[in-house]
Amino acid sequence: MGGKYVTETLRAEAGGLARATEILREGGLVAVPTETVYGLAARADSDAAVAGIYAAKGRPSFNPLIVHVASFEQAHALAEFTPEAERLAEEHWPGPLTLVLPRRHDAGLAAAVTAGLDTLALRMPAHPVMQRLLKEVGLPLAAPSANRSGFISPTTPAHVLASLDGRIHAVLDGGECERGLESTIVAVRADGAVEVLRPGPIALEAKAGEGERIEAPGQLASHYAPGKPVRLAATQVAPDDFMIGFGAVGGDCTLSASGDLAEAAARLYACLHEGARSDKPRIAVAPIPEEGVGIAINDRLRRAATPPG
Ligand code: TXA
Ligand code: MG
Repeated sequence: MGGKYVTETLRAEAGGLARATEILREGGLVAVPTETVYGLAARADSDAAVAGIYAAKGRPSFNPLIVHVASFEQAHALAEFTPEAERLAEEHWPGPLTLVLPRRHDAGLAAAVTAGLDTLALRMPAHPVMQRLLKEVGLPLAAPSANRSGFISPTTPAHVLASLDGRIHAVLDGGECERGLESTIVAVRADGAVEVLRPGPIALEAKAGEGERIEAPGQLASHYAPGKPVRLAATQVAPDDFMIGFGAVGGDCTLSASGDLAEAAARLYACLHEGARSDKPRIAVAPIPEEGVGIAINDRLRRAATPPG
């Protein structure tokens, strides 16, 4: 596929990790496995490296990035932790929780990472390959999901290559992502208030954001788009539907035949990718219960079903 680079696929063993480390230290772009989705990583302290992420994804510059860290020490050097933020981090890190916190002025991050905001989105991922990589690189890594802006997020190296082959230096193969949905994003305000900006694998007690204010710009109405019409809560299949099933409703791709929501979350993007690739002109999706991680699945499906523009 003609592109700017010949994208290398690296194995998650010593040699592959060393190569990924070298590319990242030099300011290059590597797609990396996390427990949620694959991220497109670059060193967060380099303007040129971070600019490369926006260019490869075609991402609007007003949409800030999540910074990934290996340790609490690294996290504390980048943002101000209130006691409430500290408590949430202790409870859920490493894991699929992103905290939006006041940025430290001496954080030393590229300005484009936060798109001019005074806050910073931070996460300590649990995937063992990503943990090893973060330790070897020794720098915080900025990483949005490794897909062209607006398209379906990747949960396998093949998904990454489907949209970024030739546009990035390498993909580090860590297999399929276990959770399959992007991290829960929570803002912790100076007064200790906690607000969920994006539902995800961790269902928190905190009140959901008031909703109308677009603070996480990636939360625009249309997102995760497979490029064809998507019908939700479908119980009947039309002949030109690619059907995504759940529980008793069968399909061309089934999220979870037993009705297990964690399994459905892990398979959601793989089924949407399959639907996008299929000959069928439309996608239909079975009803998903609005509970637990089902709330995050339905959030992503509503955005996938909203036409762009
Ligand atoms: O699981 C994940 O979170 C994955 C993996 C790779 O870590 N990353 C991910 O990144 O989903 P991305 O860029 O696709 O989504 C990040 C979201 C966007 O909606 C962005 O607007 C929001 O985080 N965000 C980043 N910084 C923010 C900030 N300072 N305040 C509010 N929202 C922020
Ligand atoms: Mg994304």
